Amino acid sequence: MTSSGVPANAANTPPHECAAWAKLAAHADASREESIAQLFADDPRRGAQFVARAPGLALDYSRQRIGALGLRLLEQLAAERGFAEWRRALFAGERINTTENRAARHTALRAGDAAPAEVKRTLARMRELAAQLAGVRRIVHLGTGGSDLGPRLVCDALAEQARIEVRFAANLDPLDLARALAGAEPASTLVVVASKTFTTQETLANARAAKAWLGGRGRVIAITANESAARAFGAAEVLPMWDWVGGRYSLWSAVGFSALAALGADTFDALLAGASDMDRHFQDAPLEKNVPVLLALLGVWNVNFLGAATHCVLAYAHALRLLPAYLQQLEMESNGKGVDREGRAVAYATAPVLWGGEGTVSQHSFHQLLHQGTQVVPADFIVAGVSPELDANAEAQARALAFGTDDPALPAHRRHRGNRPSSTLRLEKLDARNLGCLLAAYEHKAFTQGVIWNINSFDQWGVELGKRLADGILKTRS
Ligand code: F6P
Repeated sequence: MTSSGVPANAANTPPHECAAWAKLAAHADASREESIAQLFADDPRRGAQFVARAPGLALDYSRQRIGALGLRLLEQLAAERGFAEWRRALFAGERINTTENRAARHTALRAGDAAPAEVKRTLARMRELAAQLAGVRRIVHLGTGGSDLGPRLVCDALAEQARIEVRFAANLDPLDLARALAGAEPASTLVVVASKTFTTQETLANARAAKAWLGGRGRVIAITANESAARAFGAAEVLPMWDWVGGRYSLWSAVGFSALAALGADTFDALLAGASDMDRHFQDAPLEKNVPVLLALLGVWNVNFLGAATHCVLAYAHALRLLPAYLQQLEMESNGKGVDREGRAVAYATAPVLWGGEGTVSQHSFHQLLHQGTQVVPADFIVAGVSPELDANAEAQARALAFGTDDPALPAHRRHRGNRPSSTLRLEKLDARNLGCLLAAYEHKAFTQGVIWNINSFDQWGVELGKRLADGILKTRS
């Protein structure tokens, strides 16, 4: 590893100075008039070929505005950016999070028998604790950001399997906690306080209020990398986190305890196994058939060469309604950066604004803009075979975006220009294993884009100033 945290053998040419970048820019220029419809007309096998498969899911990217040449140039860019070496360094646990001098070893959390001893010990303790929850009727999970969004998504997605109700409170607004406690009894409530730092204002405020509400009854379990602070707070049990796990990559750690306790250890094991399947696919599949790599490179193409400023995730399953919020932190906190690994201001766009919603509900809200607005918004459709009607609607939306309708007989306000790119991620079915696989795919997408954009995807210094200013303002007002 070099002093700037670049793996020894990784090339380190800034992306916009890579030969492939110039070729991609020229290719984007030359193919500006080429439409998705034309790409299909020119290659009748496109629909079958522009598909990549991983365990439990398939990525259909045939409705992206790109052909074989563009894809080859993107793969060349990944090679010029030393992608394979960076991927090796990630899985080897090298300190690629240079500004915090840490590794990013979230994959070790789901490595099964190959997991570090402390990970296995913690999983065993999580299972033990979950087996000792007789009489607990509600779990109240307190945390924010990565200490909330993952377990909240998993508990909501698989709620029908829950044997204990879980409610989440993340906001500083006391109403959030009040609603999480409403109707519960202290004696039959387990409060889970998840905070890697155990310094987060929102979580500590909610934890103090919840502890007061318990009045010495009930139980408090803390999940943190700051054991002494949690002990001082009075947590009966502390499950460890480690500095080599980023908050937004921590679902697989003890941060997922509430999901394990509510859904069962087997379900949590399946979630880990699905993510581990994706880790193997990410490490082994050739770039042109590698789902996370393709998601990443198509994102770079849309942002850096087609000029898209946002990216929309449309989850065509009610159970995945919280997926866009989860991905917002994952991708925007990872790659919402303007300075590269060498401390230079980047001369190219990095992460787009990620947003989204739940299909078909979103069709009756913002799809008007997706179809006829002036902003071209690349989209991911997530389908899970929930129902033929739901899948048909997702397919229809993707077709309308790609091919539009330019019938001159229609008045202008009814025409769709089309040529709006999208990918469809199809889960074989929505279960814990495939959910794990899907989330790991997006983690590796974010990592791969960070490599292409030469930025550190594992720190988040930009969140600190606002916290300091809020503390200062509070002091002046108290
Ligand atoms: O403020 C952002 C952040 O640090 C996220 O990166 C993190 O997931 C969240 O706050 C919560 O932090 P903690 O788990 O330390 O309470």
